[in-house]
Amino acid sequence: MKSPEHVRRVISALRKEGPDKLQVVSDFDMTLSRFGFNGRRCPTSHNILDNSQVISEEGRKKLKDLLHYYYPIEIDPNRTMEEKRPLMVEWWTRAHGLLLQQKILKRDIAKIVEESEVMLRDGVNTFFDQLHQHNIPLFIFSAGVGDILEEVLRQAKVFHPNVNVMSNYMDFDDKGVLRQFKEPLIHTYNKNGSVLEKTDHFQQLSSRTNIILLGDSMGDLSMADGVANVENILTIGFLNDKVDEQRGKYRDAYDVVLEKDETLDVVNGILCYIL
Ligand code: C5P
Ligand code: MG
Repeated sequence: MKSPEHVRRVISALRKEGPDKLQVVSDFDMTLSRFGFNGRRCPTSHNILDNSQVISEEGRKKLKDLLHYYYPIEIDPNRTMEEKRPLMVEWWTRAHGLLLQQKILKRDIAKIVEESEVMLRDGVNTFFDQLHQHNIPLFIFSAGVGDILEEVLRQAKVFHPNVNVMSNYMDFDDKGVLRQFKEPLIHTYNKNGSVLEKTDHFQQLSSRTNIILLGDSMGDLSMADGVANVENILTIGFLNDKVDEQRGKYRDAYDVVLEKDETLDVVNGILCYIL
């Protein structure tokens, strides 16, 4: 923490004002899902599709090449978000273009997720269950693939009615074949008011002026920009990769930074204290 005093003050305010004033805004990939397990990377919602058997070998190779080219750019601490934005649009557009060539069927999504190596962070059930029990809205704002991440939550039995998702959704034709991705395209660095126009989620929650925000990317910090009249916000950042290079930026930007922590224990501890 850059300022433990600030964190203490915000947590006290969240506790004092209680669950009726609180909402949680979270990223999905590498925030609610695990970054790694036993020294191996876990898949993002895109990777779940990219690595699946429904993709041809050539398609899988091309998608992996894109990941190896663009991911280092995504997390490069020496480039600004303005520099990264057009390159992220390029990555997502090219990856979605490759996926469209693959005849992905809606009815195969559950199996694709079942057979993947996706893992949610330790403590994820406690996290979702606490929020559900206290009727606290959870808004998952993801640049991943909505249909896939919703299925991950469903299979983990945590997709409770208090959970809303904003993400990139697939559009299937009447035979259930993927034909395009729906607009607007959400990538790592446009998770802000510019894509939130499509939802009135935050307007409906205007009395909930206290926020806990969870993310793993610098782009996740603007996810709650659509909330009018924020009174207290606690931002918690998972620093998963290139920890030494990125530590300074993360500490300046997030109230709490969790380095290589594959659990939701800190978040659950805070929720347990304030609820
Ligand atoms: O849920 P979240 O917003 O974190 O999802 C985006 C993540 O998915 C990015 O951090 C990026 O590294 C990853 N990604 C991917 N394959 C793509 C595009 C993005 O794995 N084609
Ligand atoms: Mg993420």
